Order: sequence, then C-alpha cells, then structure tokens
Amino acid sequence: MSRKKIALIGGGQIGGVLAQMIAQKELADVVLFDIVEDLPQGKTLDIAEASRIDGFDVSLKGTNEYKDVEGADLIIVTAGLPRKPGMSRDDLLTTNAKIMKQVAEGVKEHAPNAISIIISNPLDAMVTLYQKVTGFPHHKVIGQAGVLDSSRFSTFIAWELNVSVKDINAMVLGGHGDTMVPIIRYANVNGIPVMELLEKKYKSADKAKEVMAAMVQRTKMAGGEVVKLLKTGSAFYSPASAAVAMAEAILKDQRRIMPACAYLKGEFGVDGYYVGVPAALGEKGVESVMEFSLDEEETAALSKSIDAVKTLVVDMERLGF
Ligand code: APR
Repeated sequence: MSRKKIALIGGGQIGGVLAQMIAQKELADVVLFDIVEDLPQGKTLDIAEASRIDGFDVSLKGTNEYKDVEGADLIIVTAGLPRKPGMSRDDLLTTNAKIMKQVAEGVKEHAPNAISIIISNPLDAMVTLYQKVTGFPHHKVIGQAGVLDSSRFSTFIAWELNVSVKDINAMVLGGHGDTMVPIIRYANVNGIPVMELLEKKYKSADKAKEVMAAMVQRTKMAGGEVVKLLKTGSAFYSPASAAVAMAEAILKDQRRIMPACAYLKGEFGVDGYYVGVPAALGEKGVESVMEFSLDEEETAALSKSIDAVKTLVVDMERLGF
C-alpha cells in the first residue's frame, strides 16, 4: 500500500494539532500550508523532532507554496480567522469567504483529485463556497461540525449520568450554528435511552426534560463557551480530533457513520444545500446519507436550522461570492 498524503491548509491552532495527531497515528504524510512565512515550517519541524520519542515515522513538511499539496489524498482546511469573545460564527463570513476562495483556487489547481474536509467557519457557508469554486464532486467535499457537536453533547450526557463517555451515542444534526439540532430521542447509553435514565435519576419526567434542555442548550453554545474562556481564539483540540476521525474513516474506507456536513439531494426534505446529517464516510468521501424519520419537533428544529444555513448562503452570494 502506498503512503497516504494529507495536506492541511491553515497552520494555526487547529492546523498544528491536526499535524501532530496525524503524525502520532501515522495516518499519512503531512504537508502543512500557511500564508505566514516560516510558521508551518516551524510547526512541522517541532513535531518531527518528537518522532523518536513518540515512535512515529511519517514525513512532515511545512510550506507557503500550493505546489506542495500536489498528490494529496485528503485536504483539511482550517484557513481563516477564529472567533473572538462575543462573536458568532456568522460574523466571520466576509473575511473567511475571501480566504476560502483563495484556498479553493489553490487546491483546485494542485490537488484536483483530493477529498476535502472543511473546518473553517461559518462552516456551512464555507463548505458551499469551497465546493462552488473548486467544482469538485459534492460527495468529495465535506464539512466537519457534527462529529464535534455530537462529541460535546455526549460529553455533557456522560458527566450528567456519571458514566463513561465511551458508552454514549448521541447525534447533533443541522447547521453548525446556534440552531443546530441535538437528537434527544436517539441519545442512548449502550442502547438505553438517555431520557429514561434521567427520569430514573430524578424520579420526575419534568425534571428530566429540564436537565436535557440544559444539556442541549450547552451543546449549542459549546463553541462560544470555549471562546469566552480562551479569549484569544476558538476551540482547537476537539475540532482537530473530529476531523482526524473523519480523515481516518475516509483514508481507511471504514464507512463509519458520522454526522457530517454533506450535500443533500432531497434527503430530509432538503435539496441543494450542505447540512449536517448522518453520513457513511469511506474512500469516496460521503458514500451515502443515512436518512431516517424525524418527529414533528425535530422536523421543525431542522427546518429552522436549514433556514439559517440558507440565509447565510444567500448573504454570502450577496457579498459577491
Ligand atoms: N491561506 C491559507 N491560510 C491562511 C489564509 C489563506 N489565505 N489566511 C489565513 N490563514 C491562516 C492563518 O495564517 C492562521 O495560521 O489560517 C490560520 C488560522 O489559524 P488560527 O487563527 O489559529 O485559527 P484556528 O483556531 O486554527 O481556526 C481556524 O477553524 O474552527 C474554525 O472558526 C475557526 O474559522 C476558524 C478556523
């Protein structure tokens, strides 16, 4: 088997952690691209110098030139500004759309066959723009949001129930904004519905609903909670972990079912938009979208979230992108 190559576009906080995680897992050779001179070279040198200690053997290259992404099997884009306290993801639209357009042009020219995972915010709009500019097949352009949002939701459930997070299955769908939709009905601990466990714990259905509502709210605001604490940037460890899980599923053709920002052609009643849905990820990128029936409340919440995504895309088009 030939060695895989991952090119990371953006060598900031998330880009650096991505490079380290990919190297430590020996998932692929890594190219780290940034427009800031010496920054990606410094980071890859630093990570490579830990290889003897951690026992990994991959090639790590820092670069300011797009030609070095040539031959990449996978591209992960984190180029763009992160949020500052008080900002929503949508406040980043104008600045990051300009950056995303440049990135898409660079990748299109030098790695036209790669599958791309986009992390930059506002996510749903950035994925849409990147696909539009590259013209890559929709199934090969995927956004990272749901894996992280679902992991956040799972973490809060594990803390609440005082059980291992490894046994929690919980899914967050919709756009990667304040309207995201945590699916309560299917949240479970090794198959046991979380709501049932909460009702047992509190001996009250009302109290269980209240506790769940608080966890849902915290999940929706989880990115902002980290921004507020960090003050100088946004979450970077967990977004990197989420993208690495997706990268692994794709490069190893695992067909793992992950909530991902995928292009819908009628699924969940959505046509022609990128939205967070459960998808099977494998060597083709999105192999299939796992559609399932939503109840009335979930349908309403998802439709509100999709409206938010559409508004963002329209705003972006009005800005000339
Ligand atoms: N091309 C390539 N890289 C660029 C460009 C560009 N045109 N413009 C900026 N960058 C680089 C910056 O130089 C910086 O190193 O993108 C990097 C972004 O890194 P950080 O500012 O540390 O941001 P990070 O925390 O990694 O988040 C990146 O992901 O989750 C989202 O909201 C977050 O949009 C943000 C993105």
